Amino acid sequence: MESRCPEIQKEEIDDILKDFEGKQFEIIPALQAIQAKYGYVPPVFVKPLAEALRLFPSQVQGVMTFYAQFSMTPRGRNIVRVCRGTACHVRGGRSVLRTANRVLGLGDGETSEDLNFTLETVACLGACALSPVMTINRTYFGLMNPKKAETVLKTI
Ligand code: FES
Repeated sequence: MESRCPEIQKEEIDDILKDFEGKQFEIIPALQAIQAKYGYVPPVFVKPLAEALRLFPSQVQGVMTFYAQFSMTPRGRNIVRVCRGTACHVRGGRSVLRTANRVLGLGDGETSEDLNFTLETVACLGACALSPVMTINRTYFGLMNPKKAETVLKTI
């Protein structure tokens, strides 16, 4: 994938990290602050964040990869999630996913070049009674089929 990491000036990094200097236990809030500003955690932050928190860069990387909420690559303004859980699978979830792949032109985990969409699959969206389920940002769409999925995705 092409790198779309923006040029981030040292002053910008220092400005975010100044509130976390020496606060090892605030690694999660620090990562959340970075992600809130950029929509993801640019890799250029790993080393200075580790230095600010008095940690090793590998420790910062470890936390980032452990928590699914953090991304090191740019994500779309609209996050489309299609459930691949058992309940959704047996009721046609795969065809909903194929529709999302086709309409958005994205595979699982991919983000569009214009940063409008990220497509993800998840193990369960917690709404199995409405399977197959898809979400767009925080809105749930249940009892999906390919036609309904296409209609919803084209209205975003
Ligand atoms: S398996 Fe799809 S919502 Fe639970």
